[in-house]
Amino acid sequence: MLVREAPIALFVIERRREAGWNIVYCSPTFLSQTGIDPSDFTDHHRWDERVHPEDRAEKDRQWNLYCDNGESSLTFRALDASGKYRWIYNELKRVESGDPDLVDMAVGVVMNIDKRKRDEARIEAASRLITLGEIATGMAHELNQPLNVIRMAVQNVELRFESDQLPDDLRSYLKEKLLRINAQTQRAAGIIENMRIFGSGSGSEPGPFDVNDALIVSLDIMAPRLKGAGIEIEAKLGSALPAVFGQTQRLEQVFINLLLNACDAIVQRQSSEPAGAYTGQIAITTLSEDDKVVVRISDNGCGMPQEVVERIFEPFFTTKTIGNGTGLGLSLSHGIVTEYGGKITVQSDSAVTTFEVRLPLCDEIREGGLSAMEKADA
Ligand SMILES: Nc1ncnc2c1ncn2[C@@H]1O[C@H](COP(=O)(O)OP(=O)(O)OP(=O)(O)O)[C@@H](O)[C@H]1O
Ligand SMILES: [Mg+2]
Repeated sequence: MLVREAPIALFVIERRREAGWNIVYCSPTFLSQTGIDPSDFTDHHRWDERVHPEDRAEKDRQWNLYCDNGESSLTFRALDASGKYRWIYNELKRVESGDPDLVDMAVGVVMNIDKRKRDEARIEAASRLITLGEIATGMAHELNQPLNVIRMAVQNVELRFESDQLPDDLRSYLKEKLLRINAQTQRAAGIIENMRIFGSGSGSEPGPFDVNDALIVSLDIMAPRLKGAGIEIEAKLGSALPAVFGQTQRLEQVFINLLLNACDAIVQRQSSEPAGAYTGQIAITTLSEDDKVVVRISDNGCGMPQEVVERIFEPFFTTKTIGNGTGLGLSLSHGIVTEYGGKITVQSDSAVTTFEVRLPLCDEIREGGLSAMEKADA
């Protein structure tokens, strides 16, 4: 009875003279823990197919360790019956049987550690954002100082300017330049302020806010990058949208992640198109529909095949090269949106990729309390 309920499965495998490995015992929880039929476990070919391609080398390494030392432990992903990968922990230890016919015998445990892995990934994603936030706050502080010096220098020049005798053409030339410097420093100050707010992130109290405001700030933060990649932006922000509930900075993180991905997808497509034949475009729409505020961010970048669409919200899933993506952006965004009782979905074909975020209205959350959030989450 206890063995049947245990959140772990035990098994015994053995290899007899002139025979392959055989599973001679496994506890009833084996299938529910691993999602693998016990008979697949000792069949090398079928076993290999089930293990995630990225974990196969480590599996072979651990198996060699077992052969040499009689002990091994492995954390890996295996395909379960529903076709999804599940994280599993496996430990194996050699048993001396004394039976001359037995070449080798081992007792092992397997355990489903899917939940633990996901929790770890969430913690890691959150701490990565905290670090990002700290960097943003530090940079905002550092940049403010030279910017203040520039502003003061401009003000001083303006003062001198009024009192000094200058030829008219030089005066109007300098005046125009000073106005431009002023406008640009103000813009820079605005961006720095956004970085500071973004950096202070999750510290603020949740409350009602306008999704359009969060989008405008995200676009501001992303503007240099989008401009640098020559991307056209079309924003159709619905007027007088009802308020949603949460921390505006956290939603900005979601929008920034989506914009970053769209930008990367466009840059990737640019590299495969002849120069001048393609213009990257991002379209942003907000509207209210069926008691929800809806945000759509579409891009005409590289798109993605169905197998990628199915996995993009998984933590650490990335198609980018090492150093260019951690695969946490979307899993984190998914976490934030669902925490607010919302939904994030994606559709992609070769022409357009669209991410849609649907958020419940502030009143709905307030009236229904937590249960409304949970309902929206269901
Ligand atoms: N707009 C998009 N167009 C095409 N593919 C996309 C798009 N958005 C996401 N993807 C795919 O989904 C994967 C996962 O995205 P996610 O944001 O979670 O991680 P990442 O961008 O690879 O890395 P990170 O965001 O952590 O730097 C990407 O590697 C990419 O393959
Ligand atoms: Mg990303």
